Amino acid sequence: MTAPVLSVRNLVHRFPATNGAVHAVNDVSFDIAPGETLGLVGESGSGKSTIGLLVTRLLSPTGGSIAFDGEDITRASAATLRPLRARLQIVFQDPWGALNPRMTIGRLLEEPLLLHARQNAAERTAEARRLADRVRLPEAALARYPHELSGGQLQRVSIARAIANRPKLVVLDEPTSSLDLSVRAGILQLLDELQRETGIAMLFISHDLETVRLVSHRVIVLYLGRIAEQAAAAQLFASPAHPYTQTLLSAHLPPDPAVPLARHEVVGEIPSPLRLPPGCFFAGRCPIALPACTQATPAMLAVEPGHHAACLRIADGSNLLAQPEGTP
Ligand SMILES: Nc1ncnc2c1ncn2[C@@H]1O[C@H](COP(=O)(O)OP(=O)(O)OP(=O)(O)O)[C@@H](O)[C@H]1O
Ligand code: SF4
Ligand SMILES: [Mg+2]
Repeated sequence: MTAPVLSVRNLVHRFPATNGAVHAVNDVSFDIAPGETLGLVGESGSGKSTIGLLVTRLLSPTGGSIAFDGEDITRASAATLRPLRARLQIVFQDPWGALNPRMTIGRLLEEPLLLHARQNAAERTAEARRLADRVRLPEAALARYPHELSGGQLQRVSIARAIANRPKLVVLDEPTSSLDLSVRAGILQLLDELQRETGIAMLFISHDLETVRLVSHRVIVLYLGRIAEQAAAAQLFASPAHPYTQTLLSAHLPPDPAVPLARHEVVGEIPSPLRLPPGCFFAGRCPIALPACTQATPAMLAVEPGHHAACLRIADGSNLLAQPEGTP
């Protein structure tokens, strides 16, 4: 098996709060293989962005370990991380906030080359042109300023900057959420093309199930900073095993006649990350919770090869939600 580009083990992150701590990431482990897109999905506040910031080491974890490209970067200093940043990039949701408004697009594209490659000015300008072309930006855009471009074009600039130094992994945190639907498809297609050409691995963060299904090879479903389920995208969407995933899919995806999922609404509120509930975090909202569910953290159990879920009821196969009464 090829060595993973990213290996995360037992990752924990707590943000200090006045009356305790926000338990944003709770014992998360996963790998990403070269050329793979791992989708990270979950409700707002489930810890997706925090994981993105931790694996790119823009945040330091409270616990656990992060290995990137064979190197342990859990506690790496800024100086150690600097040369590594070329290979480990992040693209954020808001391209307006991510780009310096006083630089032309040409300069914005040259900037990452300046940091990591030994090229002269003419070579950098030529490379910036090539980058613009790769992300399908018109040449005229190079002389413009960010406010003169559309959101979709600006996100192409952010992606071009992220791939400028041939990274091994790019974290994409809701890269299309601020864009119109029509523009979104073009960005997703571009990411797909770039990955096919270069074999970049991607951690694709989104709360949008349809987008995650479209782009991901594998998917992790997060609930309150903990992994509820992890599987190949096809497995997860065809046969979700965790009651939370089942509820999420049935509530947010259009009915698929090939997948006879019971239709359930996610009832109640996600518990506060300031006071984590005991046992299974989903117990308070789970339609099939047992008394034992609040006693101990459910272990990740294999549902089928490559498909794991953290639910007590996987063991005896009683984890599938029944059709609610009164549903046709
Ligand atoms: N800098 C911070 N200080 C304190 N708490 C934070 C900070 N950043 C995030 N949090 C909290 O950590 C938890 C996880 O937040 P995070 O932004 O990772 O969630 P998310 O899944 O990305 O949500 P969204 O879909 O809204 O972007 C939330 O409870 C959030 O309020
Ligand atoms: S462990 Fe219990 S509460 Fe948690 S999802 Fe499974 S059945 Fe529901
Ligand atoms: Mg987020």
